[in-house]
Amino acid sequence: MKLAHFSDIHITDFPLSGGFALKRLAAIASYSLMGRGAHFAGSDVRIARLLEDVDAQGVDHALCTGDLTGVSSEAEFARVAGLFGPRLQQPQRFTCLPGNHDRYVKSAAGRFEQHFGALCEGGAFPFVKRVAPKVTIVGIDVARPTSLIDSSGLCGPRQRDALLGVLTDASLKDQFVVLAMHYGLLRAEGQRDHRKHGLRDDLELTQLIDRPDVSLDLVVHGHMHRPYVVKTARRTTINAGSATDLHVKGAGYHVYDIDPDQHRVRITRRSWDVASGKFEGNPASPLNRELTTR
Ligand SMILES: [Fe+2]
Repeated sequence: MKLAHFSDIHITDFPLSGGFALKRLAAIASYSLMGRGAHFAGSDVRIARLLEDVDAQGVDHALCTGDLTGVSSEAEFARVAGLFGPRLQQPQRFTCLPGNHDRYVKSAAGRFEQHFGALCEGGAFPFVKRVAPKVTIVGIDVARPTSLIDSSGLCGPRQRDALLGVLTDASLKDQFVVLAMHYGLLRAEGQRDHRKHGLRDDLELTQLIDRPDVSLDLVVHGHMHRPYVVKTARRTTINAGSATDLHVKGAGYHVYDIDPDQHRVRITRRSWDVASGKFEGNPASPLNRELTTR
């Protein structure tokens, strides 16, 4: 079974439009003064090429772990939804989760579901989605609007309880189970993320996934724009990084070749090639590897 995984594509609508909030003003400062805009300049083209490349790889399913927009404006959602086109109505082929930039301000509540609802089971988190006979994606929403200087996420006790119920259910025992979310549990070197950037309940969630009675093969996420693979005590976590950030060397996405019976996965990295203006195989990437997941 072949699964594509990409993240943090950040369509950028600048100057910012739609609604008026202090946080959006801060985003203007970040885009114009701190050069963030340059990271995602022209990301429309890269997103279009990315979706084409994913289609061309003949994957069975494709998963996006959030941050499709920059500031959750209606204009941004409309543009990125336009690039997805008919894929928005193909939940058997695509799954999308929200990131913190898709829940940027309180006034954007429900906007992600309005456009991408068909690809996240209508926003009923946690959801359980069988994407191949023996492969299941469990999706959680850990993004929320925050204050000006905070980009932390939260799973929350209610969702954690529901997640534990899902992952300990007998129906997932013989499945290859992928837990998908926007935030990572660990940074690249295996340390916790910072309080204002990571999950507030990272320790609780890590403890949950590391329980011996949980059926789980991979945790996949984004949020940090440089990709990496790191392990908790018992699970492998994979960050695809940003597929479109021009300041990330080898920015791109992953194709996972999954053998559900052997609980094995091969990671193949595909990266944006500036010269050709396309995504290409990246055989030199240190992300390429084969892993046993249980
Ligand atoms: Fe993020």
